[in-house]
Amino acid sequence: MKIVMLGTGYVGLVSGACFSDFGFDVTCLDKDKLKIKNLKNGVMPIFEPGLEDLVKKNFLSGRLKFSTDQRAHVKNADAVFIAVGTPTRRGDGHADLTYVYDAAKEIASYLNGYTVIVTKSTVPVGTSQKIKEIIKKNTNAEFDVVSNPEFLREGSAIEDFMRPNRVVVGHENKKSKTVLASIYKPLFLFETPILYTDLKSAELIKYASNAFLAVKISFINQMADLCEQLDTDINDIAKGMGLDKRIGNKFLHPGPGYGGSCFPKDTLALVETSKQNDVNLSIVETVVRYNRDRKKSLARKIINLMGGDVTNKKISVLGLSFKPGTDDMRESPSLDLIPELLKKKAKITAFDPVAKNEAKKFLKKIKYAESIHECIKGSDCVVLLTEWSEFRSLSPEFLSGFMEGKYIFDFRNVLDPNVFKKSKFKLYQIGREKI
Ligand code: UDX
Repeated sequence: MKIVMLGTGYVGLVSGACFSDFGFDVTCLDKDKLKIKNLKNGVMPIFEPGLEDLVKKNFLSGRLKFSTDQRAHVKNADAVFIAVGTPTRRGDGHADLTYVYDAAKEIASYLNGYTVIVTKSTVPVGTSQKIKEIIKKNTNAEFDVVSNPEFLREGSAIEDFMRPNRVVVGHENKKSKTVLASIYKPLFLFETPILYTDLKSAELIKYASNAFLAVKISFINQMADLCEQLDTDINDIAKGMGLDKRIGNKFLHPGPGYGGSCFPKDTLALVETSKQNDVNLSIVETVVRYNRDRKKSLARKIINLMGGDVTNKKISVLGLSFKPGTDDMRESPSLDLIPELLKKKAKITAFDPVAKNEAKKFLKKIKYAESIHECIKGSDCVVLLTEWSEFRSLSPEFLSGFMEGKYIFDFRNVLDPNVFKKSKFKLYQIGREKI
């Protein structure tokens, strides 16, 4: 089985490395020559736990190759996965499919013999059909199009790929289904459910899943807002709800609002699809709006609890990436919260264990510390924004050794409020009693 992966972004690289680890012959293609050169030298374009070792191991074994030469590799492939980006189009919420359609057009001319073209990128309903039409116009070779959305979470992408909850395959005939069945055969060992469906349903499953999770997160965040008014504890509410198997305990963790490369983009694109089809998807529309406002409203919370004025206050932000285990800054709450505080003339110092270099591209007017100690030294206020493990054990003793002030905003509810009760600190946690 020869697999070609078009695009060495997050999805393409993780999927390519994992397929090669299954024992397939995989070539990851990218137009970016420097990226390919770096990958050949073992330099990863992203931080993802375990990826570097997996890439190196399979590259050395010869099963994983990197190249810029589409023609040479596509013509020999049994399956070509399209894993290029589908960012939000400027000016509206639609997914920008330029890269996907360009890739389809380009590979069409190189096809030689039966090939399955697989859309791995998240694409709106109907895109795989359009890909099919584009390829048909540009080749006489026999081919089929399959939709196989990814459900990888950053920070645990390899585990998610190797032990998925499910694999979704949208297809149109037995021939292409058989190819995908052989590609995912290694997962039969773990009895992974594989759902075979049609092309459009597979595309929609991805959007529906991400939108549902975004709704679940926003629901618990709104409940947390209510808890603050009612003097009830969101952690207990979430636990009590999560014990009901119909609800489940996952994605009920309150926080500063969801971020990342998928939820914000995919919820927006789904809303656009609903509008185009004149269907009421007001639940998702509300979630999109609420999540945007939430990130900013947390800055107001800090300002209010600090007495309404943060001019020249030294605020230390712990964690910049949108979640732990990644250096990804896309749609990170830090990108909304920090500028709001800067507008009010606060002085910001930030520390993130891996995202510093990425963050520097977006957040210019702040100081970057090399350690927690350096970040909180002389600080009036600490804001815990990303739940990296090393922030979980912050104690009053440790903090008082460095900080001047008394305000701790734990926007991920990871600190133990009991240990702060008798200290000088004022601990704020989302949807919980203020100390
Ligand atoms: C998500 C989906 O989980 C994955 O299936 C899809 O393919 C890509 O998008 P990812 O964006 O990597 O993955 O991260 P995820 O762990 O799902 O978290 C997304 C956002 O939701 C983060 O900002 C996280 O902090 C937030 N979140 C998650 C919460 O605020 N509370 C929760 O309980 C869970």
